[in-house]
Amino acid sequence: MHTLYVIYHGLETNAFFAWITAYGPTSGGLELFHYFSMFIVVGSSFYIDLRLLGLAAKDQTLKQLAERAFPAIWIAMIFNFLSGFTMFAGSATGYLINGWFYFKMVATVVCLLSVWIIQRNIANWDLPKIPISGKVMAIISMVLWIGTILIGVEVPAITGVG
Ligand code: HEM
Repeated sequence: MHTLYVIYHGLETNAFFAWITAYGPTSGGLELFHYFSMFIVVGSSFYIDLRLLGLAAKDQTLKQLAERAFPAIWIAMIFNFLSGFTMFAGSATGYLINGWFYFKMVATVVCLLSVWIIQRNIANWDLPKIPISGKVMAIISMVLWIGTILIGVEVPAITGVG
């Protein structure tokens, strides 16, 4: 725990992280980056999920949609991570013993795992009748994303850090 504190304290007192999270316009910019990258990640993921359920983009094959949506998901996720990490760094010691924050991190990893599983199975599921396993994964993916957004909103609301 002590080592972790030293690392977190080092991040928080780093001149760059301290400045970018304390100065209004840049701090607001980080929030915007975090939200908009999240919209792209979750929106593109939902688009694929709805296609698997036969509720959207029926004029495109699953493979065509996947070729457009997956790069958007992973590129936007890089921005989501970078903006989230920067906000975290600015208040790092506040997250040291913050179960909700770690819960959100685990939930994010589980969401990305579900995206990865779907991406790996696109070729198998790209049939005129989408197999039931694809539909079940689509529902799991949507539930996981909604849960993670709710946890994300609750982190500052419950813990007061943010
Ligand atoms: C990739 C790693 C991520 C890190 C390190 C991270 C970290 C953070 C931090 C430090 C904040 C600002 C403080 C706070 O409001 O809690 C924040 C805000 C937020 N994050 Fe993330 N985040 C990540 C990914 C995500 C994901 C994947 C989602 C949703 C799918 C998400 C949803 C949110 C929301 C909704 C807020 C705004 C909370 C509010 O102010 O009400 N984050 N994030």
